[in-house]
Amino acid sequence: MGNLLVTGGAGFIGSNFVHHVVEHTDHHVTVLDALTYAGNRESLAGLPSERVDLVVGNITDAPLVDELFGRADAVVHYAAESHNDNSLHDPRPFLDTNIVGTYTLLEAARKHDTRFHHISTDEVYGDLELDDPDRFTENTPYNPSSPYSSTKAGSDLLVRAWVRSFGVRATISNCSNNYGPYQHVEKFIPRQITNVIRGVRPKLYGAGENVRDWIHADDHSSAVLTILDQGRIGDTYLIGADGEKSNKDVVELILELMGEPADAYEHVTDRAGHDLRYAIDSTKLRTELGWTPSYGDFESGLTATIAWYRDNEAWWAPTKDGVEAFYATKGQ
Ligand code: NAD
Ligand code: DAU
Repeated sequence: MGNLLVTGGAGFIGSNFVHHVVEHTDHHVTVLDALTYAGNRESLAGLPSERVDLVVGNITDAPLVDELFGRADAVVHYAAESHNDNSLHDPRPFLDTNIVGTYTLLEAARKHDTRFHHISTDEVYGDLELDDPDRFTENTPYNPSSPYSSTKAGSDLLVRAWVRSFGVRATISNCSNNYGPYQHVEKFIPRQITNVIRGVRPKLYGAGENVRDWIHADDHSSAVLTILDQGRIGDTYLIGADGEKSNKDVVELILELMGEPADAYEHVTDRAGHDLRYAIDSTKLRTELGWTPSYGDFESGLTATIAWYRDNEAWWAPTKDGVEAFYATKGQ
């Protein structure tokens, strides 16, 4: 049994990871989370207090980070500003958290010789053409498009430099688009599900041809635990579940699963610099570490996610109007 420090553990993927760790391991978890607009302590409700602590604080707070690393056997770093649309509106918090925050954690990992796993994204590789037969691999050159993805790319490069220059015991994973419970309603899938629940038509950016490679957040969690246990120090692992779908196909499936006509959506202003397609080749993770996803079927995972949003309106309703007011200012 070990003490895991999980940054950003009150956010979407971090909270799914904490639930996964409590269910599948004996580790104790300390969550460090600033509870920004994207963090919600209710995402950790119901977890046993003897297994999970929440420390409300910022990853740029070096003395606090130092104290928490002193008590941790390993750190999994999820905390980030995570939304592309916000990064186009106000990039500064992305630099502070994603770059300076990661730097602060790396300095503590260096001082305490702490095993460190850095969570990153496939967006660092830029985008692919719709008909490109290739997918992203660990050897794809970095080519980020947005303020968000460029700060994630910068944070990955910091991790690599701290491994090589200072011997920090770190691994990195770059995952594709996650879906599942506890995802903020600013993001594509929860925004459309909660729109339909509210009787509002889903909003598709541009023509809706953009492709994302979907993975259930619980599969992301099992992959991260596998890398934490067995990953080679200094290595990068791509995480994906062969879930490529166009945004239009996803919206149509949501509408069908929610009992609405498949064409009951509207096209809205496209995202500036909108990446066309992401696709992950996770062969390395599968062959070297033996990981496989459990949610093979996107439709059943989506059905469960729709049920979760129907059953947990109290979790998302307080944020919904503010998110929609923000999108309305941009014609989205
Ligand atoms: P999220 O926005 O839902 O959660 C981020 C969490 O970090 C929130 O709880 C927030 O309060 C916390 N946080 C933000 N700034 C902080 C700071 N300065 N100090 C402490 N805590 C802070 O994000 P998410 O979608 O769960 O993404 C988590 C991680 O996974 C990010 O690093 C993101 O880049 C990466 N990722 C996300 C996806 C995806 O599909 N959402 C895919 C691949 C990788
Ligand atoms: O690929 C991993 C990335 O996936 C993560 O690094 C990011 O943190 C995460 O937010 C996600 O980024 P995307 O920009 O792909 O996710 P988002 O949910 O914002 O949008 C998914 C797609 O849906 C994208 O092509 C934009 C489109 N979209 C989004 C919204 C909110 C719409 O068509 N309509 C919408 O209302």
